[in-house]
Order: sequence, then C-alpha cells, then structure tokens
Amino acid sequence: MASAEEETTASRDLMWRLIGPVSELSNRQCRLIYSSFGYDSDVCLFHVKGDFFAMDARCSHSGGPLCDGDIEEANGVLQVFCPWHDYDFNLKTGKSNTGLQQQVHEVKVEDGSVFVKHASLLSLKPFPMVSKN
Ligand code: FES
Repeated sequence: MASAEEETTASRDLMWRLIGPVSELSNRQCRLIYSSFGYDSDVCLFHVKGDFFAMDARCSHSGGPLCDGDIEEANGVLQVFCPWHDYDFNLKTGKSNTGLQQQVHEVKVEDGSVFVKHASLLSLKPFPMVSKN
C-alpha cells in the first residue's frame, strides 16, 4: 500500500490530460481550462494560426487573466499581452521581454483530440468546491 508521501508524489506526476475535440477547441483563440489543483493552476489553451499552446492562466507578474489578453505576432513570434499591465509572454516558451517566465505546458493533438501535459486533472468545466469540513 502506498504511503501518503508516495501518493502525493504520484499526484504531481505529469500526465497527458484529454481536454476535448480539436473541432470544438479550435473555434476560439483562447479558453480557460480548469485545474483540479485550483485557481492558481488553471491553464489557458490558445489556438493561434492552426497551433495549440498552453500556459498557466494567471500572469506571473500579479495574476492577471492571460486568457483575456491580446495576441499579436511580431517577427514570427506569437505573444499574449496581459490585460492588466501589458506584459508580453511568448506563447511557445512563456518568456517575457520583462524577464518574467510564464509556465508553459506541452500540447499534443491525437486522433482528433487535444491533450495537455499537466500534473493535475484538467477540465473545460470548473471542479466542484471541495468541502473543508
Ligand atoms: S498582472 Fe500581468 S502584467 Fe501585471
């Protein structure tokens, strides 16, 4: 039987998480994907110029909602601009010209479905609140 410590470690392992069908997910430039770890671990799934990109949804500067940011291409680099203070983040690498680094996640498309590699469960719908009692 696994110890509590082993279970905690296992739950942090990165796994491919099924998000949904390409046909549905490609019709919006960005959508919020909920994490079972909670608000701070939610993910933005971008679909830009035929490619999917995933990064943490809360800006590494002060937590702004990157899913609401503008997406622009400059010199072949796709970037999202945080709506709160306009910091840029490279959609592929998560790097910002400010020196900040946004966590990005691997994405793959297989058999018409989009998968994101993440330690938590991911869902298009919010996870139910867990009672602390
Ligand atoms: S919170 Fe995103 S740039 Fe400040």
